[in-house]
Amino acid sequence: MDEEVVIKFEKVTKKYKLYENDKKRLLGLFFKNVKCKEKKAVDNVSFNIKRGECVALFGKNGAGKSTILKIITGVTYPTEGNVEVKGRVSALLELTSGFDTEFTGRENIYLKGQILGIKHEEIQALEPDIVDFAELGEYIDQPVRTYSSGMKARLGFAINANVRPEILIIDEALSVGDEAFKRKCVKKVNEITAEKNVTLLFVTHSANTAKEFCKRGIVMKKGKAIFDGEIDEAIKEYNKIIK
Ligand SMILES: Nc1ncnc2c1ncn2[C@@H]1O[C@H](COP(=O)(O)OP(=O)(O)OP(=O)(O)O)[C@@H](O)[C@H]1O
Ligand SMILES: [Mg+2]
Repeated sequence: MDEEVVIKFEKVTKKYKLYENDKKRLLGLFFKNVKCKEKKAVDNVSFNIKRGECVALFGKNGAGKSTILKIITGVTYPTEGNVEVKGRVSALLELTSGFDTEFTGRENIYLKGQILGIKHEEIQALEPDIVDFAELGEYIDQPVRTYSSGMKARLGFAINANVRPEILIIDEALSVGDEAFKRKCVKKVNEITAEKNVTLLFVTHSANTAKEFCKRGIVMKKGKAIFDGEIDEAIKEYNKIIK
């Protein structure tokens, strides 16, 4: 891969199989000839993102944005095509998932750290910042099952935003929590991306948020990338399809 390119999508397609019912879905796991429809969530998409670039991903509901992010983070895999990702990826998506709810918030920091492949000593060093950012008070030492969904999202954001990612992936997560926490999240993302060589890819429906962070935008429509270029142009294209 080119030295500077950190995310490379080459003719990437992701198909989902849609079965009529649960029984067929189960049979479909074992037998190829079970009848089903196919949905192309991502359809032959190619792009390169270079180190340090900040890119906004636009598109209507169901356009394939989250699927692209999930492929980058390895939550799901492409059906066709080639994907390469270089560097520590931290994802602000599905913030409330991935916790072991029997463990405390603090224990989950270590758990998430391990999953992200971070050394124990490094997590230890980051723990105070994470705890501080999450603002959970004494709840940080309570099991996560006792948290509200907003509290879980705070912890998720605090961990993922504080692990010094090289690539930061955000799926509309800047809207977690209350107004004050939202502002804090935006500020934090600004701090992260201000550091040299941090790459940002994020989904947003807000032109203002996009412009705040990005010079480049990709517009998705029905699984296809219909525009990739300068942010103002991308917003124009996006406005055309939402009308
Ligand atoms: N696990 C799945 N099984 C079947 N279809 C799926 C699955 N995940 C996503 N899809 C379908 O793939 C398409 C793209 O979904 P995706 O979540 O990527 O859209 P999106 O652009 O993120 O939309 P939104 O703005 O609503 O978040 C949608 O039609 C969706 O229904
Ligand atoms: Mg989505």
